[in-house]
Amino acid sequence: MAPVMLRSACRIHNLVKTQICVNLSCWSLSCGVLKQAGAQPCSSLRTWVSELMPEQQSGAGSALYTPPSGVRGMTSLDREAFAWTVNVPALRLPKQGLNQLVKSLKRVILQRPGMKRVVDIGGDDDHRLLLLDPGSVSSPTSFGDAETEVLGKFGVPLELQDYELQLTYENLKSEEVLRAVLPEGLDVTSGFSRVGHIAHLNLRDHQLPYKSLIGEVLMDKNPGVTCVVNKTNTIDSTYRNFQMEVLAGDGNMVAKVRENGCVYEFDFSRVYWNPRLSTEHERVVALLRPGDTVLDVFAGVGPFAVPAARRGCSVLANDLNPESHRWLLHNCKLNKAERRVRAFNMDGRAFIRGPLREELPALMRGPGRVHVVMNLPALALDFLDAFRGLLGPPETEGSPPLVHCYGFSKQDDPQRDVTERASANLGGPLEGRCSVHLVRNVAPNKEMMCISFPLPKEVLFSSETADDGSSEEPAPKRQRCEDTTD
Ligand SMILES: C[S@@+](CC[C@H](N)C(=O)[O-])C[C@H]1O[C@@H](n2cnc3c(N)ncnc32)[C@H](O)[C@@H]1O
Repeated sequence: MAPVMLRSACRIHNLVKTQICVNLSCWSLSCGVLKQAGAQPCSSLRTWVSELMPEQQSGAGSALYTPPSGVRGMTSLDREAFAWTVNVPALRLPKQGLNQLVKSLKRVILQRPGMKRVVDIGGDDDHRLLLLDPGSVSSPTSFGDAETEVLGKFGVPLELQDYELQLTYENLKSEEVLRAVLPEGLDVTSGFSRVGHIAHLNLRDHQLPYKSLIGEVLMDKNPGVTCVVNKTNTIDSTYRNFQMEVLAGDGNMVAKVRENGCVYEFDFSRVYWNPRLSTEHERVVALLRPGDTVLDVFAGVGPFAVPAARRGCSVLANDLNPESHRWLLHNCKLNKAERRVRAFNMDGRAFIRGPLREELPALMRGPGRVHVVMNLPALALDFLDAFRGLLGPPETEGSPPLVHCYGFSKQDDPQRDVTERASANLGGPLEGRCSVHLVRNVAPNKEMMCISFPLPKEVLFSSETADDGSSEEPAPKRQRCEDTTD
């Protein structure tokens, strides 16, 4: 695929992927013409006169939710300080036929979760007030033909009332709270990912003074989130777990998540888990057939190994991190997959040169196919040299294993880049003998790729082995990764 085409594909792919990341804000306010005052009883009813300037009318919906300016700079969350009153248009509707009227006016009704849109009128039990969105309704001419018709049918005069609506912290979305609190002009745009009950963020410098407030707001506004953590800015550990700081909540780091029909539990502060890989796990597992064998060199807590076993494959799963190994065993049991999984806790190269080499000759002669999965994108391509001369010479019978090896690329042509690097490490060309899949865009100009290929027999049975100290288990390499998203 040409570089340009591949880059566009990445962007499209990104759009699809954003659904798992909750955006705190892409939100802008037009300045408030709506009244901001202390909390007052909702009382006055007077004929609505549009106060909106034409250029402000379209943004009125968001201006409506601008909390009092006094909250700006707050670092310790004071929910009471977010009470204020705004004027919104309202229609007086007969109680009879109310349901049908509300349904027909859906387009123009004030939309806000948790907010009552139909309110009583003191001393008039035959009518109710329907609160309308000032962004949609500024005068009686704002109603569409169908709306006007249904109002006429019920004899409702096209006369707008002015309703004083009390708003509180409860009526605000998290981005609206944060927009009001954080310094004006600096964006509050920040995503968080969710792993079970844990929301994890990557705060920017200007957001740090507000970190505990941000944590509390996210817990308040996201049911099920009981712990909010901030990742430090690099993922720089051998085990690829984040350094984290608890911003709010119970500090319980043992998460429970579901992925592709399996359940996983793990200590999120001590192992690697990325909800953005769910589709990739699913894609690879879909390639497997019952009776196949999966050799997972960097298994983590089991997102390839566990579903593969449940699909009827035999699995050898390895991870260097003792915590990952422990949770992998736990997850095998949790998913009743332990009979089919043998777990190892060693360096990936030692695993290839040890248990994998011992099992491979018989597996290659067997009826099922053999898949080697290598998901450590920052380094896995470098581990491919461990396959050089793994079984030979002499060459023996059997089908070579299919390798699925992950790599990051910052090149204009990531497909070519990973193919060249994989070929160089194997010591044999893969061009024309592999397929390369774009997994996801990790950062601007950084792609995660998966290269899949049958391990060339001339590599497996080569007389030349990699010059790495051979069967000695090397000290695991320390790795650096510039972004925080993996
Ligand atoms: C990117 S994670 C992938 C985990 C899992 N396969 C997944 O898809 O979520 C890479 C894993 O490799 C492990 N790891 C890092 N260096 C290793 C090494 N030298 N040998 C074996 N495992 C290693 C880490 O502990 C981590 O669990």
